[in-house]
Amino acid sequence: MTALNQHFVADSEDNLARMQQAVAEQMRDRDAGLMQYFYRSSVVYQRELDNLFFKSWLWAGHVSQIPNPGDFFLYEIDQESVIVARGNDGQVRALINSCRHRGSRVCEELQGNCKTFVCPYHGWVYGTDGALRGARHMDAMPGFRKEDHGLKQARVAVRFGLIFINFDPDAYDFNACLEQVDGQLGPYHLENAKIAHRETYSVDANWKIALGNYLECYHCETAHRAYSKLHTFKDREEVVAPINRAMWERAERETGVHDIEKAVYRMFREAPGFGSCVYTSRYALFDGYLSGSRDGTPVAPLMGDFKGYDGGAGDCQFGPLTYMLNYPDHCILFRYVPFGNNKTDMEIVWFVNGDAVEGVDYDREALVWLWHVTTIEDKRIMQLNAAGVNSRFFEPGPQHPEFEDTPKRFVDWYLHALAGDFSVIPPTVR
Ligand code: FES
Ligand code: FE
Repeated sequence: MTALNQHFVADSEDNLARMQQAVAEQMRDRDAGLMQYFYRSSVVYQRELDNLFFKSWLWAGHVSQIPNPGDFFLYEIDQESVIVARGNDGQVRALINSCRHRGSRVCEELQGNCKTFVCPYHGWVYGTDGALRGARHMDAMPGFRKEDHGLKQARVAVRFGLIFINFDPDAYDFNACLEQVDGQLGPYHLENAKIAHRETYSVDANWKIALGNYLECYHCETAHRAYSKLHTFKDREEVVAPINRAMWERAERETGVHDIEKAVYRMFREAPGFGSCVYTSRYALFDGYLSGSRDGTPVAPLMGDFKGYDGGAGDCQFGPLTYMLNYPDHCILFRYVPFGNNKTDMEIVWFVNGDAVEGVDYDREALVWLWHVTTIEDKRIMQLNAAGVNSRFFEPGPQHPEFEDTPKRFVDWYLHALAGDFSVIPPTVR
């Protein structure tokens, strides 16, 4: 695909200079949270879209949504609409939903199956591989080459049944990154999983507030009673370390999955390439709890190769804006989609084994209970946070070196990207 039109246009040089000054100022105060400016400036928001969202690997969907040739669904972000389609050759493509004639959307349906996409304006016809098949009257014109006018395409990576796209033609090869967590993620066989439930939580908060909330568990003890009863993630290292060690020792034996306890840390600036983060680690649930449910008991059949419960949960990052929690019997994916500075869609997708039958093998309400309740709690605190951040008197306080370490890594990556520095740094040893 050709380079993107740059949407970021500073209203004036003053605005761009102000942004660069704010980035420099924030970089000098690395321990503090982000200043209000980064949550409110329209210049910053446009820059975020161009430098972060449209250069990062983003989760678009799951292979079970498009099992057959001609199946498609739309993925939308900002003013972009992408047709994620399976071609007759079985390949998954991300077709930019903008006609190569005058730019009309060629597909209006949110999902479906078709043989061709016919532009509703002047009737150009595209195959499900994006190739232009026909252009009324034009294709007979001398010099008109259909092969020059196929739908543009975004990059695609498919692994573990998860479909990722990247609008940057020069993006780092995400498949090569995802291979690094094959050992930990492969055994869930997410490629054979099914979506048992998905829900969008629309939050009146800047996307960095929503994501920042996911990246730390300093708030868990105060905000999430049900979650905190089960998960050790919120506790201090010295409390958690022996519980984790005991779980790591039994993890392989109990689950039957080789090396399931091994961690891979390539987050944010430590990603192998810009916007290509991969991270996975396994942490313990408190004694006696087996899965992420209301009372910690299993809620679905074991996934993939799992033979049993080790009392652990996997924690994953796929690119900077997609996260996953993996319990032996279900996996939960989270993604963040911004709508301007003050609204974010937080989407949650629950996966279970592909052959599990609702009402027989799992109860949907029981499956989603914990993370639905936890997300409603999060929505409340995110919105309260957003309201307070918009106060004229807001001044960010320090970030805790242990409990807010991941948000600090995010802010470091974010500021570099905003400034146009897409370099990556070697991973730290943990
Ligand atoms: Fe699509 Fe003219 S805009 S055929
Ligand atoms: Fe939370």
